[in-house]
Amino acid sequence: MDLLSLNSLLFFLFLLGFCAGNSVLPPGPMDVVLGKNLTIKITVTKNPGDIVIWNFNDGKNQNNIATLRPDNTVNVGDAYKTRGVSVDPNTGSLTVTSLKKEDSGDYSVTLLQSAATVTGDVLVRVLVPVSNVVIKSDLFEAIEYNSTVVLTCSSSGSYLTFTWTNGTTPIVSDGKRLTVVDTPPSTDGGSSKLTITGVLRSDLVGPITCTAKNTMEQATSPPFNLTVYYGPDDVTISPLKPSDYITSSSDFNLTCAAPSSSPPATFTWYHNKDEIKASGPVLTLKTIEAQGFGKNYADYTCRAQNAKTLRAVASPAVRFSVMEPISDAKISGPTGILIAGNSSANVSCQATSGNVTQISWIKDGTPLSENSRIMFSSDKSSLFISVLQKEDNGNYVCKLRNSVSEKEASYKMAVSFGPEPFKVEGKDEVKISTEVVLICSPPSTPPANITWKLNGTLLNVKTNKLVIENALYKDSGTYTCEAFNPVTGKTTTSTHTLSVKEEIIEGLSDGAIAGIVIACLVAVGACLALFFYCRQKVPVRPSAKQAISCCVTWCHHEEII
Ligand SMILES: *[C@@H]1O[C@H](CO)[C@@H](O)[C@H](O)[C@H]1NC(C)=O
Ligand SMILES: *[C@@H]1O[C@H](CO)[C@@H](O)[C@H](O)[C@H]1NC(C)=O
Ligand SMILES: *[C@@H]1O[C@H](CO)[C@@H](O)[C@H](O)[C@H]1NC(C)=O
Ligand SMILES: *[C@@H]1O[C@H](CO)[C@@H](O)[C@H](O)[C@H]1NC(C)=O
Ligand SMILES: *[C@@H]1O[C@H](CO)[C@@H](O)[C@H](O)[C@H]1NC(C)=O
Ligand SMILES: *[C@@H]1O[C@H](CO)[C@@H](O)[C@H](O)[C@H]1NC(C)=O
Ligand SMILES: *[C@@H]1O[C@H](CO)[C@@H](O)[C@H](O)[C@H]1NC(C)=O
Ligand SMILES: *[C@@H]1O[C@H](CO)[C@@H](O)[C@H](O)[C@H]1NC(C)=O
Ligand SMILES: *[C@@H]1O[C@H](CO)[C@@H](O)[C@H](O)[C@H]1NC(C)=O
Ligand SMILES: *[C@@H]1O[C@H](CO)[C@@H](O)[C@H](O)[C@H]1NC(C)=O
Repeated sequence: MDLLSLNSLLFFLFLLGFCAGNSVLPPGPMDVVLGKNLTIKITVTKNPGDIVIWNFNDGKNQNNIATLRPDNTVNVGDAYKTRGVSVDPNTGSLTVTSLKKEDSGDYSVTLLQSAATVTGDVLVRVLVPVSNVVIKSDLFEAIEYNSTVVLTCSSSGSYLTFTWTNGTTPIVSDGKRLTVVDTPPSTDGGSSKLTITGVLRSDLVGPITCTAKNTMEQATSPPFNLTVYYGPDDVTISPLKPSDYITSSSDFNLTCAAPSSSPPATFTWYHNKDEIKASGPVLTLKTIEAQGFGKNYADYTCRAQNAKTLRAVASPAVRFSVMEPISDAKISGPTGILIAGNSSANVSCQATSGNVTQISWIKDGTPLSENSRIMFSSDKSSLFISVLQKEDNGNYVCKLRNSVSEKEASYKMAVSFGPEPFKVEGKDEVKISTEVVLICSPPSTPPANITWKLNGTLLNVKTNKLVIENALYKDSGTYTCEAFNPVTGKTTTSTHTLSVKEEIIEGLSDGAIAGIVIACLVAVGACLALFFYCRQKVPVRPSAKQAISCCVTWCHHEEII
């Protein structure tokens, strides 16, 4: 065996010994929680009579813990006399009770057997329990988008790792908005920082929790919440499209809302660019009018402000103007007597209050328009009729209108006229002892006073109907109806001839009368022709006259029959 081979063998043996030594105890590090018992088992078989020596090395000093003698008695080292140390006589395993932090270190065992000596060691770490996991914020309150929130989760315990949870999902660094940085593991205590840049209102409602954990234990913090103030985002106003004109003193309101604002927004109102002194989300028409606004068509807006975020958002503009309704319409026209063809009339119409924007005139249900006699004033508030006619009689209505109301008033025009020319109605001929009715109804306003005359003699009848119950021959004659209008002062008359007869010949048909008339004309024509012929030939006057009279008589005779 050469030198090289010997070296190789020694190296092999060294490796073997190292490996064998290592396999005597379980692989480390062994973690034990502070206060608990530590038991280290030997993984090789211990034979009766073997000596087991346990030592502890904290990196500075080496101390004997205990030695198990062949007679199975245990000799506890001076430093461990009060520590409740024991060595199992059968397996040689070591138990140290109620571990302290200083018990962390290297534990080694030496097993002296009859044939060989084996050694092993293991690192034991005494872990501080995980406790007091809490999340703290660097800010007491945060502003959405503006604030960078740093949450620190701290905990006692050894070799801790941290995880953050949002509701049920883990929070991971995205390298931009969210970053998580942990302190390096240490024997006691640790922390993790979650940084949220430009915090959002939804970020922290999770709830957010933090869990600290080591190989033995874990603990979770109480849920964390932090108020993130936000908004207002959008501001609404209602009604968004009111009518252009709002009735003065009505219960009209504008209402502003900023639902997404924390804390709730406060409101400011504007008339165009001018601030209206009002508070709250409701602006009443009363407030608008009390401050003298509303007279013109204008924009109304509200601004919602958040005292924490210092953001202010304006609502859309709402446009309208306030208008006083027309309270009442008053019409006035001539009160005296009006005479057709002579009087003129001025009818005017006014509102007792309210701003009238439109006036229209209606006569007996039909819109009235200007003509040669009828004229409106430039504002249409009055109507002038230069010379009244009977057609102007009627009911005149004026309608006053503005955007929020309409009122009307009426005037009755009474124009006096007449009596106008008329005819007496009634029969020309009646049979004796029959009833005769003559009617005279002249168009006249006011109704005419009527008087009747027979052959120029006044009769005692004042009505427009003259009744003779039993006509006598002496009732024949010329009847005159005289109509007098006491207002116009005009008198109109009409006459009617009545003859009372013994017998009335039944009237001929129109055709028969026409035939007779034509026959007469033909006969008269023939007579005239004969007359002129005779005069040419024999100028004898009497005979001609006789011929004519003969003809006329014939005709007359024919008519009577
Ligand atoms: C630790 O060991 C002691 C003594 O053997 C025993 O009384 C105690 O219950 C053990 N503690 C634990 C946590 O096992
Ligand atoms: C938590 O979850 C909500 C939605 O579930 C999300 O909007 C929010 O950004 C999350 N917060 C963080 C810090 O990841
Ligand atoms: C967190 O929420 C609880 C319960 O909802 C509440 O009592 C507490 O005041 C809140 N804390 C913060 C900082 O908002
Ligand atoms: C306007 O607001 C007043 C007072 O807030 C209220 O009494 C009234 O009913 C409101 N009117 C309308 C139309 O909402
Ligand atoms: C938030 O940021 C905006 C823009 O940077 C700024 O105008 C505003 O005043 C900030 N808000 C607060 C409350 O600081
Ligand atoms: C008509 O008017 C004129 C002048 O205004 C007056 O003199 C006359 O008496 C009037 N006629 C009637 C019938 O009233
Ligand atoms: C009609 O009457 C109104 C009101 O009294 C007056 O203003 C107007 O001038 C009159 N018009 C005429 C033509 O007299
Ligand atoms: C009435 O309306 C007209 C036109 O809109 C306006 O010029 C006038 O000032 C108003 N008058 C009153 C009393 O409001
Ligand atoms: C016209 O008639 C009325 C009643 O029908 C009468 O009161 C009045 O005196 C009469 N007038 C004249 C002028 O006769
Ligand atoms: C009226 O006059 C007519 C003819 O002139 C005559 O026939 C009649 O008898 C007179 N009547 C009276 C009542 O005088």
